[in-house]
Amino acid sequence: MKKDLLTLRDLNADDCEALFMRSFELKERHAAGIPNRTLQGKTLGLIFDKPSTRTRVSFEAAMVQLGGTPLFLNAQDTQLIRNEPIADTARVLSRYVDGVVVRTYSQDLLEELASGASIPIINGLTDLYHPCQVLSDLMTILEKRGKLEGLKIVWVGDGNNVAHSWLNAATILPLNLVLACPEGYQPDEAILEAALKDMKGRIVVISDPKEAVRDADVIYTDVWASMGHESEHGLRKKFFKPYQVNQGLLAMADQDVMVMHCLPAHRGEEIAADVLEGAHSVVWDQAENKLHTHKAILEKLISGQ
Ligand code: CP
Ligand code: NVA
Repeated sequence: MKKDLLTLRDLNADDCEALFMRSFELKERHAAGIPNRTLQGKTLGLIFDKPSTRTRVSFEAAMVQLGGTPLFLNAQDTQLIRNEPIADTARVLSRYVDGVVVRTYSQDLLEELASGASIPIINGLTDLYHPCQVLSDLMTILEKRGKLEGLKIVWVGDGNNVAHSWLNAATILPLNLVLACPEGYQPDEAILEAALKDMKGRIVVISDPKEAVRDADVIYTDVWASMGHESEHGLRKKFFKPYQVNQGLLAMADQDVMVMHCLPAHRGEEIAADVLEGAHSVVWDQAENKLHTHKAILEKLISGQ
């Protein structure tokens, strides 16, 4: 049966472990210039209805480097915008390509596409989740710290799609996850409730960023207004000001704290420029690891390896 990656809940701890191991292996092989053509003859569709630099390019490059072919489709240029039923689109695409990465607004649309398709569908970001991002972020933490368990991982800012995928990750892996979000911008209640029920470690949601980052091993932030919320940007800037990841906040964390951001970053808003460019920031390695993780995901879902 085909397997999708619509949320991190589609994976278990063994799947994650295997993906991390393979991502590290693929990273080493890439650095050594050893070719890895495991998806020769395979085609990946990429339907994007929101902008993307990292996710799009890393999936496209991953597919090429694995010997396959990526086909980028701007959603606006497809019949989807002229209301062709999603189920019809799913059936037709299944006849042409071996998997599809989708970036769109609605998680429901993604799920409808997946249920109509006979090929794997991969979530490249929706309003609710960004599972591939968090998988590569976990790889980055493992790479830098050698473990996940026992680390205090603190999310500072909007309780958004990336935060939701962190909550899901905490239902698979024994994470110590603290989220500091302004009142009114905390994670979706149903997603949080479900995560609290199934968590393997600890999840705490508070509103005080200073309390949250005390002794933090990882501080993670993201934009204050995600794609689709741009009109709220001005209003959000007022509420989110105390949540800026700056030197003051960093001083309260562990002295070896790692700063993460999925990017794109807004310097001077959710993160101070000197923190983003500073010694604690791992954001560029974090961005690179999307390539290696995406390769492992494609291999697993498309070739079943
Ligand atoms: N982090 C991330 O998903 O970046 P893009 O929006 O550039 O794909
Ligand atoms: N939360 C951000 C992530 C971008 C990669 C957004 O959805 O815009």
